[in-house]
Amino acid sequence: MTKTIRKAVFPVAGLGTRFLPATKAIPKEMLTVVDRPVIQYIVDEAKEAGIEHFIFVTGRNKQVIEDHFDMAYELEDTLRGRNKTAELELLKSFLPAAGTTSFTRQQAPLGLGHAVWCAREIIGDEPFAVLLPDMIMKSETGCLAQMMEVYRETGGNIIAVEEVDPSVTHQYGIVGVGERRGNAFGITRMVEKPPQGTAPSNYIISGRYILQPEIFDHLSRHEKGAGGEIQLTDAMIRLMGEQSFWATRFDGVTYDTGTKIGFLAANVAYGLARKELSEEFRTVIKGLVG
Ligand code: G1P
Repeated sequence: MTKTIRKAVFPVAGLGTRFLPATKAIPKEMLTVVDRPVIQYIVDEAKEAGIEHFIFVTGRNKQVIEDHFDMAYELEDTLRGRNKTAELELLKSFLPAAGTTSFTRQQAPLGLGHAVWCAREIIGDEPFAVLLPDMIMKSETGCLAQMMEVYRETGGNIIAVEEVDPSVTHQYGIVGVGERRGNAFGITRMVEKPPQGTAPSNYIISGRYILQPEIFDHLSRHEKGAGGEIQLTDAMIRLMGEQSFWATRFDGVTYDTGTKIGFLAANVAYGLARKELSEEFRTVIKGLVG
């Protein structure tokens, strides 16, 4: 029997320098795709997968993320006064239940591994999920829900992977895969941002993880890796010596909203997918591209 995954960590402390000046006063996770912030898509994916406790590792100037996942009393009161029932219902449908969110701060930008380590006291001694908010994963069944299915079969640690063009493997964590079991492959190697031409495969770590709590033993060493940062990948490499790691290919499309092209593409894809917008939006896009 595998232990149920109840908690998910969202590392949202990043500065978002690629989106300046938009991110001067607004966290990058709050930039909107169609009509909701990027982080909302990620939290919804976790909720769909059965996550009960949402843990945000934030930083300075990220307070609006906390506000976004809280009740907006004055706004709701005003909407009620104006009989805006549909808008009120919409807000309610996105509100996490009381007591199901936690916010902790990564005091200094020391890397993804350090950000996840900052959640250790809230996670405690149970397996958990990590969802990187830059990556919006679009699919019929959400990426984390797909991973949960695999996890129930394999247990251990699971990483969602995707195949990319070899020319960009140096920008990601890369896994080498071996034995197949159902929809999963045993991970044989892992490397964070390998120099060009040295990657063991084209499978990138795409930003969704299911991890066992022993990962914290390795993260607590605070060893610096690629880019001088405390890397989650390095702690996973150490844990690979003790536990199984499985890669599962995500069945869907990923938008890396941390890049301008990915962000724009996400807006187009999600805009076109909206029933009430698709027809008119399609005509507008056709007009623009000729
Ligand atoms: C992080 C991870 C990397 C992963 C990537 C996905 O890198 O360290 O393994 O492939 O996210 O976006 P970052 O984007 O923070 O440099």
